[in-house]
Amino acid sequence: MLPDAICDEPQLDRILGEPGPKLVRFIPGVRSPLVILGAGGKMGLTVASMARRAADAAGHRLEVIAASRFGDPERRRPFEEQGIRTESVDLLAPETLRRLPEAADVISLVGLKFGTAQDPAMTWAVNTLAPVHGVHRYPEARWVALSTGNVYPQVPVAQGGATEEHPLTPVGEYANAAVARERLLEFASRSGRTRMAVLRLNYAVELRYGVLVDIALRIARGEPVDISNGWFNCIWQGDAADRILRSLDLAEHPPRAFNLCHGDLLSVRTVATELARLLDRPVSFTGQESGTALLSNPSRLDAHFGPPPTPLADVMRCTARWITAGGRVLNRPTRFEVRDGRY
Ligand SMILES: NC(=O)c1ccc[n+]([C@@H]2O[C@H](COP(=O)([O-])OP(=O)(O)OC[C@H]3O[C@@H](n4cnc5c(N)ncnc54)[C@H](OP(=O)(O)O)[C@@H]3O)[C@@H](O)[C@H]2O)c1
Repeated sequence: MLPDAICDEPQLDRILGEPGPKLVRFIPGVRSPLVILGAGGKMGLTVASMARRAADAAGHRLEVIAASRFGDPERRRPFEEQGIRTESVDLLAPETLRRLPEAADVISLVGLKFGTAQDPAMTWAVNTLAPVHGVHRYPEARWVALSTGNVYPQVPVAQGGATEEHPLTPVGEYANAAVARERLLEFASRSGRTRMAVLRLNYAVELRYGVLVDIALRIARGEPVDISNGWFNCIWQGDAADRILRSLDLAEHPPRAFNLCHGDLLSVRTVATELARLLDRPVSFTGQESGTALLSNPSRLDAHFGPPPTPLADVMRCTARWITAGGRVLNRPTRFEVRDGRY
């Protein structure tokens, strides 16, 4: 459960990185150092800080290393303030990986989605070559590698979301690069018999970015909400981080894929109507709902961990309060309305 409102970024980061009791029981099985590749993005601090705090709570001596290019050195500060070591590495220049110590547990958050339309070659390189170079550096480690629900095509809403067996036949270069990421990770894991769990995430949400922020901002600005892509799944970023860390236990050879999202299939129209009520603003819509959408079924992962505990109604309430109070947002729209795969 989230509080009624979250007032500032330190409180938000504290809540996002709060480890649950199951993670505190799990973390002593994670070997030091835990290396998190691609930690400089939107999710890295939440994952690294949750691991750090879980280890502290369990009395487990675990060094957590956040590795990324960290082009902006300021991005390192919040990690280091929490006792998380940062290392600057470029996974497209694999010799830089020698800076990292040996590790038996690795999480890869490396990826690139936005800007694909302008520079598709970079999207393919970051999503395929970069994580594969990571596997070549750590073939013996247990791996959790992030993928995306975009690997599936749009599926009929009535079907209840794609399961992991659904053919990976999506539309658009980003989504196909994400399929290639999974295939090449599997190929790389074969030679080293690397154990790996691949997590297909659908929309992490917190108060500075995500589908709920995008919809709330449109309503707050008096813009119509596009319902052409009428349904979506998401998950509170803190719940996603907890599952990412505990999925080290699901790493096996050959790698297995798991959908990572909340099981609720959310209607854009219903969510926008509720956010408009919470924001005390009118809402208008544009576009036509279609019978298909990008949706995943997380039953396989839920069978291991149970349903994600944070209610999405709480996230909506906190999002509306945050936007009303003028809380900082990242200005990284998810473009959830896109149906042609062009990001
Ligand atoms: N957030 C979501 O809602 C969502 C949804 C679906 C899937 N995912 C997947 O989950 C993962 C984490 O999500 P995120 O939102 O944190 O992604 P993100 O914001 O795009 O972060 C990924 C990070 O990877 C790092 N990176 C890129 N190229 C690199 C390179 N050559 N060497 C080292 N690091 C590099 C970048 O940090 P530097 O610039 O510091 O290198 C970048 O910020 C991604 O793989 C994404 O595909 C996320």
